[in-house]
Amino acid sequence: MSSNTSNTHRLNIAELPRHVAVIMDGNGRWAKKRLLNRVKGHEKGAETVRQIVRISREMGIGVLTFFAFSTENWQRPESEIHALMGLFKRLLNSEEREMQENNIRLGIIGQIDRLPEDVRAVIARVLKTTRGNDGMLLNLALSYGGRTEITEMVRRIAFKSAAGTLNPDTIDEATVADHLYTRELPDPDLMIRTSGEMRISNFLLWQLAYAELFVTPTLWPDFTADEFVSILKEYQNRERRFGKVSKSTSD
Ligand code: FPP
Repeated sequence: MSSNTSNTHRLNIAELPRHVAVIMDGNGRWAKKRLLNRVKGHEKGAETVRQIVRISREMGIGVLTFFAFSTENWQRPESEIHALMGLFKRLLNSEEREMQENNIRLGIIGQIDRLPEDVRAVIARVLKTTRGNDGMLLNLALSYGGRTEITEMVRRIAFKSAAGTLNPDTIDEATVADHLYTRELPDPDLMIRTSGEMRISNFLLWQLAYAELFVTPTLWPDFTADEFVSILKEYQNRERRFGKVSKSTSD
């Protein structure tokens, strides 16, 4: 496994983010600029996903979450949805072996039951083959929406309270986190969005509370391992205060 990047010097491997979340935006614009069908942009974008997974695994990032398909994306033309579902299936099929070889576990967050049966079948198989891997978690947000996730969390907690298995007085932030799709995962330390839009777009609304946000104008198909490493360096230069005062002013 080689990502061919020479940009990793001055990166502190001991202080990498534990969890990086990515909004891969700009596939359509990348294709349009080249007078290609939007689907070609998604296909090129899938290549970028491979590169970023490789470099992340090499460096030792623990969790990588990609926003691959949002609840809102169901409103796209039927032909684009169909092409994307086919692409997810092909990617999972073709990467299963590499995931095994590199000790990568697959995770899925979102409303899986809305996905077509054949996509769910591939997901179920790869989840099963990779479930013992602990080198990195490759987490795909598929049919994912942050508000839907929060709504489902409220419903689950309400059912337990009504059934008497959860005392409402004991509900705290940990209870909420435990009832989200991301239970057991650390919150993202870093969120990267490509193609310049300054929005969160219903992605990990609860979990991004203290994440460092990076927006690059680069379109997702043009994003490279080198730019990813540069963002990690910039992340390491930021001071994360979590609402407290700066270390340098608190003495
Ligand atoms: C956003 O670009 C991208 C998507 C909705 C799909 C992303 C999917 C892939 C890159 C395929 C592989 C992914 C995985 C991880 C299985 P856009 O279409 O909104 O671009 P635009 O804003 O320029 O129109």
